[in-house]
Amino acid sequence: MRKIGILTRGGDAPGRNAAIRAAVRAASACGISTVGYRNGFRGLLSGEMEELDDRAVGNILQRGGTVLGTSRCDEFLLAEARARAAADMRSVGVDSLIVIGGDGSFRGAAAISAEAGIPVAGIPATIDNDIAGTDDTIGFDTAVNTAVLAIDQVRDTSESTGMIFFVEVMGRQSGLLALATGAGAGPSGVLVPEARGELPILVKRLRRSFELGKHSHIIVVAEGEEAGGAFAVAERIGHQLDHPYRVVVLGHVQRGGRPTAHDRIIASQMGARAAQGLAAGRSGLMTAVRAGQVCEVPLLEDGRQSATGEGLLALAQALSG
Ligand code: F6P
Repeated sequence: MRKIGILTRGGDAPGRNAAIRAAVRAASACGISTVGYRNGFRGLLSGEMEELDDRAVGNILQRGGTVLGTSRCDEFLLAEARARAAADMRSVGVDSLIVIGGDGSFRGAAAISAEAGIPVAGIPATIDNDIAGTDDTIGFDTAVNTAVLAIDQVRDTSESTGMIFFVEVMGRQSGLLALATGAGAGPSGVLVPEARGELPILVKRLRRSFELGKHSHIIVVAEGEEAGGAFAVAERIGHQLDHPYRVVVLGHVQRGGRPTAHDRIIASQMGARAAQGLAAGRSGLMTAVRAGQVCEVPLLEDGRQSATGEGLLALAQALSG
């Protein structure tokens, strides 16, 4: 192997730069050079790339976002486009690929590997923590910390005014980000896509809470929950309780910012592991965290489940008050 291409795809997540840095330096320690493709698979198709070396990835460990840029590229869904990308890679000596992203990214990587025989490694990096096969993804911890801090601040206003606050967090169809945020921030309720029919229960609980004289109420709402997010939930609950409320959508604030030490550490371990795996001749691997250890698992595996957060859900139900 001579040269590894690295790209980041899909929604950015804090810690991706730490993974890039570690992959470049671990490859370099194995005598393999690296290039960074710009803006995900789009860069593979346009040939937009830059040589990376140990110095080029200095001073990025602590930065949010991704220095390589990211995108979702529909053209890469076409086999013809992937064949062109593989030929272009080979023509400049790039003979393997590290893809930092989520499920969609890994499907693209697996396809180019199967069709063109290019060895690939995936590094899971999304604030949603919804990737099957790993307990943790790069960026999740930072996003949880950002949301918890925001809720601490909203609580001051809720305490002062008595208004109910509905705080929406991201996560697509996964409630893990909302549940972990709830465990860290102690709201009056958490609504997630995985638990349906919870709204009437929450209304009852809030009524009881008002009767008992509780003044401040915060409800964490996962963007993918069944009513359609915080505005929809707030309208229904606010109407039923006839109580003033406000909605806070944290949105992309959760995607940015300096990665926590935890995310820097797992990103560094995963970046190094991906480069070392390719250097050792392995392909079709995804780096993962299992029981606190960074390891390699197959990039795509039929029937594999992503973390469900059952323990966190039980905690949210038991502790909300
Ligand atoms: O997958 C990461 C994520 O931030 C989700 O939580 C969210 O639903 C989505 O990306 C937002 O995507 P976009 O940046 O395209 O609006």
